[in-house]
Amino acid sequence: MSPGRNWTLLDNIGCLVTNDPELDRGPLGVLVDAAVVVGEGLIRWVGPRDRVPEGAAADRHDLQGRAVLPGFVDSHTHLVFAGERAEEFAARMAGAPYTAGGIATTIAATRAATDRALGATVSRLVAEGWQSGTTTVECKSGYGQSVADELRCLRVAEVFTPETTLLAAHAVPPEFADRPDDYVRLVCEEMVPVCAPHAKWIDVFCERGAFDADQCRAVLQAGMAHGLTPRVHGNQLGPGPGVRLAVEVGAASVDHVTYTTAADVAALAGSGTVATLLPGADFCTRNRYPDARALLDADVTVALATDCNPGTSYTTSMPFCIALAVREMHMSPEEAVHAATAGGAAALRRDDVGVVREGARADLIALDAPSYLHLAYRPGVQLVREVWQEGLRM
Ligand code: NIG
Ligand code: FE
Repeated sequence: MSPGRNWTLLDNIGCLVTNDPELDRGPLGVLVDAAVVVGEGLIRWVGPRDRVPEGAAADRHDLQGRAVLPGFVDSHTHLVFAGERAEEFAARMAGAPYTAGGIATTIAATRAATDRALGATVSRLVAEGWQSGTTTVECKSGYGQSVADELRCLRVAEVFTPETTLLAAHAVPPEFADRPDDYVRLVCEEMVPVCAPHAKWIDVFCERGAFDADQCRAVLQAGMAHGLTPRVHGNQLGPGPGVRLAVEVGAASVDHVTYTTAADVAALAGSGTVATLLPGADFCTRNRYPDARALLDADVTVALATDCNPGTSYTTSMPFCIALAVREMHMSPEEAVHAATAGGAAALRRDDVGVVREGARADLIALDAPSYLHLAYRPGVQLVREVWQEGLRM
């Protein structure tokens, strides 16, 4: 180790979640009484605090026994939108069902908004996410649903994150109401080629009332032909072909996964597709919750994400999702924390985040608590006290 002048020793960490399988103590690779050296954006050293190499860092920062974790990886959000739908939420809480029909409201508001207004919303929500510990965020388009508006949404998103997703087939826009196949053709032939340079991923909403498996397959294949990697919204509102389509095309992730059959779980097991659970959406739509136990017990890789959007899940809080996962989906606190960090990284096919290991990005959070358990144990409490993004305290 040849420490740089700006390296910092994060010392006196009471409980360090590393997610490094080479370290002992369960799936989280927990070290007690630990220290981490960060420098030039990366993690430079991790270990017990009584073995910090001599002269490892110029600065020392005392964590006073707090828990430190990798920053959360929120692998599923829709932050580029205008307006809000609080009335729709209130109606749902009074008994109305969620139908996805409200997406049209947000499309109209988003099309009418300036780029500047859209950017201000993304900026506000990314900052809100930071405050609750999110250091990597994926961001979808999907409220433009025209070539020009989807392009605009992606250009706004890419200012904030490299994890941009073209959600071209989210809802059939009003001007295509009676001819959804013409919309799918527009997506494949015009929207994907124009938008692909600004996206890393291609996503679809594969659900009754949105797009069917053939339409979604066509869009995903068009995206793949332009270098995008597929991901799928599937099995949110009922059983359907989304999970199996995701596995068939080798999607990085299938998201929601609220209604699964044994065949869906079997298809995911042994596939390279992560099951991303979005309990905030199930909470805010009074839906049932996914059968996380069936997925975990079948060794499916599980991620947790917020799905932040104005319709089904207007939250940026990964700790809230962890608490829901533990309380409502019977995930252990260890499984939930892993899913919110390493699971999200797997869903984004990233090995440089969601882990505290030499060479990884120095994205870390410190809790106002002695253990990661408090994330589920103290729901609704602002426990994230420090956020370090690429080695800099935010
Ligand atoms: O992931 N399910 C599809 N899309 C979003 C919600 C869209 C909306 O209602 O605005 C979701 O939940
Ligand atoms: Fe979503």
